[in-house]
Amino acid sequence: MSELNHRILLHARPGGIPEPSNFVADTVPVRPPAADEVLLETIFLSIDPAMRSWMSEDSSAHSSVPLGEVMRGGGIARVLQSRSPMFRPGEHVQARLGWQTHPTLPARYVQKADAARGDARAWIGVLGLSAVTAYFGMRDIGEVTPGDNVLVSAAAGGVGQIAAQIARIEACHVAGIAGGADKCAYLASELKLDGVIDRKAENDLAAAIGRACPDGIDLYFDNVGGPTLDAALMHLRPGARVVLCGRISQVAAANSYAVRNLGMILTRRARMQGFQVFRYHDRYEEARAWLAARYREGALQQRLHVLDGLDQAPAALGMLFRGENTGKLVVQVGREFSHARPSR
Ligand SMILES: NC(=O)c1ccc[n+]([C@@H]2O[C@H](COP(=O)([O-])OP(=O)(O)OC[C@H]3O[C@@H](n4cnc5c(N)ncnc54)[C@H](OP(=O)(O)O)[C@@H]3O)[C@@H](O)[C@H]2O)c1
Repeated sequence: MSELNHRILLHARPGGIPEPSNFVADTVPVRPPAADEVLLETIFLSIDPAMRSWMSEDSSAHSSVPLGEVMRGGGIARVLQSRSPMFRPGEHVQARLGWQTHPTLPARYVQKADAARGDARAWIGVLGLSAVTAYFGMRDIGEVTPGDNVLVSAAAGGVGQIAAQIARIEACHVAGIAGGADKCAYLASELKLDGVIDRKAENDLAAAIGRACPDGIDLYFDNVGGPTLDAALMHLRPGARVVLCGRISQVAAANSYAVRNLGMILTRRARMQGFQVFRYHDRYEEARAWLAARYREGALQQRLHVLDGLDQAPAALGMLFRGENTGKLVVQVGREFSHARPSR
């Protein structure tokens, strides 16, 4: 085992899109676990848009990461040493690991990633928090119903891929918006969506949505906000539901976009509702049981965009805001399989 813990610290707060210069790397000795703690080896780190908010001083939704501290982030790890009866060396776990190779954490902040449900890739992807977000957004907030005409933005991304597939599983007509031909081909050929819109190739997004959703929209799952939300609102059907999952187009924008078509919510007697996945913490197990069953049946998949090495994390975050990720964005920090003899 490496005796060193490689870490990425928050160095400076971003003005717009996060840059590598917002972070700095350092190395400290691995800290052996105290009673009721575990020493972990990070395998995958999830790269999430919310990290941009955590980097800001005025983060309203979440507390900010202090400058000089390890960047916050969740992921999948392997237990190296355990001083808790809850965990054994070699087990896979999920936790808020932070951007570091060898976190030492209290066992109460760590959850098992049951190998019977999936390997580390499944746990960062199809069973991970993005998938759980899609589950509650689609089902609880969107009240997805068979026969619905569903539109999903950022449909090739982490949350969007799963949201679109849930709608397909529920026998809906599903259209997806993504940026670029490669992502759109994936949505059409692999996820079998009924309609696909390449936002980067369309001059008139509202007209393109009209072509992909000729009968209008019963459920719009919004991952991006801004002009895309505006364009989707124009096509709402009576009684439509608009799920405000995220507004990535606005989070790092210099000037915020004023949505113009809110009148459609009134005239279509529609409902628009936001949600935060962590509010569903008590029901994560319900979501994971459903997602694991669909994954086992082959009805659900998750394309990962994997960057290799902890040193890639600082540049990775900005990719989300430029649409450069082709799938759920993760950084692979350690090996997926260990043949090392675990110690206790
Ligand atoms: N409510 C919750 O609890 C919760 C939890 C997790 C995530 N979220 C939100 O869910 C959304 C998706 O998150 P994710 O982790 O799955 O990221 P993601 O979709 O994998 O990556 C972000 C994608 O957003 C699109 N995008 C970026 N800038 C854009 C712009 N200016 N205009 C239009 N599209 C743009 C890009 O896709 P294309 O280029 O393909 O369009 C990009 O690949 C985010 O808004 C995130 O904040 C919410």
